[in-house]
Amino acid sequence: MTIKVSAICSAEATRAALVGADATSIGAVLTVHTGSAQTLASVLRRDQPDVLLLDLPVADEQAMEQIEAALMTAPGAHLVLVSADSSLELLKRAMRAGVRELLPAPMSLMTVQRALKHAQGHQSLHSREPDVAGQVLALIPAKGGAGATFLATNLAHALSKQGKRVAVIDLNLYFGDAAIFLGDKKIVSSVVDLARQTERLDSALLHSSMIKLSENLHLLAASELPEDVNEVSTAGVEKIIELARSHYDFVLLDVSSTLDPVAIKALDLADTICLALQLNLPFIRAATHMAAVFRELGYARDKLSVIVNRYEKGGSITLADVEKATQLKIGRTLPNSHLAVTASVNQGVPLLEMAPRDPVARALRAWAQELAPPPVQGNRGWWHGLVKSSA
Ligand SMILES: Nc1ncnc2c1ncn2[C@@H]1O[C@H](COP(=O)(O)OP(=O)(O)OP(=O)(O)O)[C@@H](O)[C@H]1O
Ligand SMILES: [Mg+2]
Repeated sequence: MTIKVSAICSAEATRAALVGADATSIGAVLTVHTGSAQTLASVLRRDQPDVLLLDLPVADEQAMEQIEAALMTAPGAHLVLVSADSSLELLKRAMRAGVRELLPAPMSLMTVQRALKHAQGHQSLHSREPDVAGQVLALIPAKGGAGATFLATNLAHALSKQGKRVAVIDLNLYFGDAAIFLGDKKIVSSVVDLARQTERLDSALLHSSMIKLSENLHLLAASELPEDVNEVSTAGVEKIIELARSHYDFVLLDVSSTLDPVAIKALDLADTICLALQLNLPFIRAATHMAAVFRELGYARDKLSVIVNRYEKGGSITLADVEKATQLKIGRTLPNSHLAVTASVNQGVPLLEMAPRDPVARALRAWAQELAPPPVQGNRGWWHGLVKSSA
C-alpha cells in the first residue's frame, strides 16, 4: 500500500535529511532530488509521481511561470509547494499556476505526510461517480435577518453529520458572512475569485478554493473585497454551482435577498428554493413580494418552500395567514432559541456541536434526516482506489 511521492529540495542538506527518513512509515515510496522550479518538468516526466513536493525558497514570477508551464504538460499532477512565504498573494498565484497546496518550509517528512493527507482529501472528491448529481438547495431570506445564513450553514453541517458530502456557497457577494457561522477559517479563494476565471475553473480549482471545515463539509466563501463583485458573471456562478453539484451530495446556496442577476441565476439552478421568514408583518410583506417575483420567473410551486424561522405558537399571525399571503406552502418551521443560537453564531461553532439537545438543533437534525438517508457503511475510499490503479 504505497504512494509514489517525489520531492524536489532546494538544498543538499534538506535532500540528505529526507533520504535518511523512513518514508515507508507513512505509506510512501519517496524519490528525492535537489533542484528548483526549473527541474519540475523533468522530474514529472521521469518519476510520474502521485504527489510531488517542490521546495521553493524564492517564489517569484519566473518560478510561477516555470511551474505553470511544467503543469501544462502534466495536468493531473498533484503539486504541493513548500515555502516560507505563506501570504495569500502567493497562495492565489500558486493556485492559478495549478499548485494544489502551499505548505510551510522547511521541507521534512512531516511535510510529505501533510501533502499526502491533502491529496487524500482531494482524491476523495474525484472518486465520486461523476454522473451522480447532488441536490442544490437555495436558502434566501424574505428580507435581511430572517436566518437564511444560519439555516444554510447549520443544515449543511447537519447533513455532513449524516455522512453526506456537503458544499456551502456564499452568494452574498457583498459582505457575505457564512464562513463566520462555521468557524471563520482563513479564506483561500472566494466565489468572486473563481467566477472571474471561468475558463480555468475545474474540479481541482474548486476543491482547492473551498474552506475545509471537516472532511465532509466544505465552504466557498464570499469575497473579502466587495469592489471586485462587479466582475462576477452569471456564467461564472453557473459553472461553480454545476461543478459543485457534480462533486457533492448537497450544495447549499446562501443567497442574498437583493434579487440581482447572480441571485436569480442561483435560484434558477436550485432544485429547491427555501424562502426564510419570521412571523411578523415586515417579513410577510417581503415574502409576498418575493413570491410574486418567483411566479414571474416561472418557478414551479413544488420547487418553492417557505421556512418559518423562530416560530412561536400563539402569535397573532398564523401559518395559514402566511400561506394565504404568499400563495406558497410552508415547508417547515424552526423554533426560536435565542441564547443557544446566538452562542453558536458568536463562537462559530455549529449548533449541533454546541447544543445538540436544543430544540433548533433537533429541528435541523430532523430536516437533514428527511433530506438524506443514514450514512452508507463500507466505503473503502481513496487508498484502495489509488493502490488498485497503481498496482
Ligand atoms: N431559530 C433561531 N432562533 C434564534 N435566533 C436565530 C434563529 N435563526 C437565526 N437566528 C439569529 O438571527 C440572526 C440573523 O440570522 P442570519 O444572519 O442567518 O440572517 P440572514 O437571513 O442570513 O440575514 P442577512 O440578509 O443579513 O444575510 C443570527 O445571527 C442568529 O443569531
Ligand atoms: Mg445572511
